[in-house]
Amino acid sequence: MDPVRVGICGLGTVGGGTFDVLTRNADEIARRAGRPIVIEQVGTRRDNPDCDTSGVKVTRDIFEVARNPDIDVLVELIGGYDVARELVMTAIEHGKHVVTANKALIAVHGNEIFHAAHKKGVIVAFEAAVAGGIPVIKSLREGLGANRIQWLAGIINGTGNYILTHMRDEGRAFDDVLAEAQALGYAEADPTFDVEGIDAAHKLTILASIAYGVPLQFDRAYTEGIARITADDVEQADNLGYTIKHLGITRRGENGIELRVHPTLIPKERLLANVHGVKNAIAVMGDAVGPTLYYGAGAGAEPTASAVVADLLDVARNIATAHSYRVPYLAFSGVNDEINALPILPMEEIVTAYYLRLLAVDRPGVLARVATILAEQGISIEAIIQKEATEGELVPIILLTHRTREKHMNEAIRQLESLADIAGPVTRIRVESLDEQE
Ligand code: HSE
Repeated sequence: MDPVRVGICGLGTVGGGTFDVLTRNADEIARRAGRPIVIEQVGTRRDNPDCDTSGVKVTRDIFEVARNPDIDVLVELIGGYDVARELVMTAIEHGKHVVTANKALIAVHGNEIFHAAHKKGVIVAFEAAVAGGIPVIKSLREGLGANRIQWLAGIINGTGNYILTHMRDEGRAFDDVLAEAQALGYAEADPTFDVEGIDAAHKLTILASIAYGVPLQFDRAYTEGIARITADDVEQADNLGYTIKHLGITRRGENGIELRVHPTLIPKERLLANVHGVKNAIAVMGDAVGPTLYYGAGAGAEPTASAVVADLLDVARNIATAHSYRVPYLAFSGVNDEINALPILPMEEIVTAYYLRLLAVDRPGVLARVATILAEQGISIEAIIQKEATEGELVPIILLTHRTREKHMNEAIRQLESLADIAGPVTRIRVESLDEQE
């Protein structure tokens, strides 16, 4: 059979890894694909000293790859939004299939890209865009195809999890651990994407679309980062039986879909609470299969290359298949049904439990006033801890509440912060039981 000819654009961490895996495992990959998958050309603005490209055509103009008539599949590994979008759209225009690891591109421009690809009859595959080497997209799109997906929750940013893990275990400073994650090639070019939850929201947006069959709606995702978590929060959560993780959560309700990334207290006994370092894991609840968990390396050169090459294998196998017989880009055929139109819920409408930490003046009646404000908003307290005064006259008060609607909690926090007896802002971290019965 004729080989499948690949053009790789971008030779950074993932590009280099993909080049190496495709070269090293060429025979095994050809046996699986039923035809060789060969690197025809590499487009890169700078060389990667760890990657020996001798014998392969290298160009500094990545768009040359998108227009090259000798290329069947363009592998987009340059990252970012705008140039990547233009590159992928050019490749599609020239009738090329596309494999990408770019979650920002798919989350933000995916609807447009899939529309163009559908018209041209080409494949766009993006397994590496979510959770690096973990085949969660294929599992959700195909393996769980029988299920009505109810919710999923994941640790989908390795850098953030790496930082939280090392801060907790080694008492190290945030910046120090972040620098290490960057040196190891886990962090985004702009690491605020990692710590502010934007990278996780890109991935969550993609997962939610595939889970429920709704358009990609990154602009509706709620994101909150990990920078404000203190060592005290970590310790208090632990005392209460919880671990703090930066989670992406999506849940399908009657009136809409939750789509949110934020620090979350989860019970210590959950498997997700025991996912450490750069590892990613996604828990998916399907109505037929029940809970399932996907775990592995969420970033890094060869783990991500593993997903890129798996997509290339899929392209190689599907290349001659008629468009209408292929797996749809976002799992569901493009029907405009009620589910497709389900809105993403505003955060005020989500229902969850909360951890609150407040600093109060130590005098009679303060706790009563705090309890009254919560009671007036219909918020029930599950646990309360008052610690010894550490900051002058002020005492930290830790509260765990039962589930309530976020808009009631927002109002309660507004009133708490306006009390003369409460100093500074109230820390609020959402709590999820991730109960397998839900
Ligand atoms: N910066 C990402 C992470 C890389 O840390 O998970 C993989 O998308």
